[in-house]
Amino acid sequence: MSGFSAEWLSLREPADTTARNLELMARLLDWRQRQSSLTVLDLASGTGANCRFLAPLLGGEQHWRLVDYDPALLARSQLEMQPWANATGHCDLEWLLLDLVRDWERLDFQEVQLVTASALLDLVSADWLERLAHCCGQWRAALFIALSYDGEIIWQPALAGDEVLRQWVNRHQRTDKGFGPALGSDAVAALATLLRNQDYKVMVRPSRWQLGPEQAMLQTALLEGWVNAALEIAPEAASELANWQIQRRRWIECGQSRLQVGHWDLWAWTDTVPSYTNSQ
Ligand SMILES: C[S@@+](CC[C@H](N)C(=O)[O-])C[C@H]1O[C@@H](n2cnc3c(N)ncnc32)[C@H](O)[C@@H]1O
Repeated sequence: MSGFSAEWLSLREPADTTARNLELMARLLDWRQRQSSLTVLDLASGTGANCRFLAPLLGGEQHWRLVDYDPALLARSQLEMQPWANATGHCDLEWLLLDLVRDWERLDFQEVQLVTASALLDLVSADWLERLAHCCGQWRAALFIALSYDGEIIWQPALAGDEVLRQWVNRHQRTDKGFGPALGSDAVAALATLLRNQDYKVMVRPSRWQLGPEQAMLQTALLEGWVNAALEIAPEAASELANWQIQRRRWIECGQSRLQVGHWDLWAWTDTVPSYTNSQ
């Protein structure tokens, strides 16, 4: 349904885990020490990778609301994660089938202390980010937004054509992914500004994928996806792209290819009280 298969999400999950920014994780865990029980909203949760990573680190009493609009991904998440949640005894999970655009009003921020997402932000539009920042600000919820693509793609060995491919991919990133015109690699900076305007403290740090020859399957999947995206932007370059792809695939297959893909992690928090408290 969404174009993100469970197979793709499990292929990228180990690279995401390695790439996450440790300084921001430490800040998040410091903040966690000051909370008692925690309600977390995980936006576009897919099969639950973000929760699988964060919940064991956050520890203590936790209630997670995992939200996605793809029923197959949510069902898989439920199947895989419910036994784990039962075993921990103090992490309770709830799965919500919602479209983050059409069903936004149904999303409940009440009592949420932490809003999180991974591999989502580059898909969203400026309008959608404003809504997100507004709702978080109203409830003074902290935000931990991981692994947003930053526009950087660096292959080794380098090849003529790398830069033009990167530019086509980045133009494709700005097309509509269901949230309105996507902000792509500008999304993190835009969210940081919106949050600072609401007196949040915001930290942004890199969380790059550094893929070596042992991650050939992930490199191949990225190569195919990017060539398809580039073809949508520049169909007239089909034969140029095909030649470039043949050489890239050859290097991946013979274990000579390295690939760096840039991401940002964002951590934002505030010590001020929610506006609903002021109005009571
Ligand atoms: C790149 S995946 C990331 C999934 C997960 N957070 C992870 O890190 O593995 C993007 C997710 O966004 C979800 N998604 C895309 N558009 C959505 C929408 N309008 N409403 C809810 N979920 C959406 C997809 O179903 C997919 O699970």
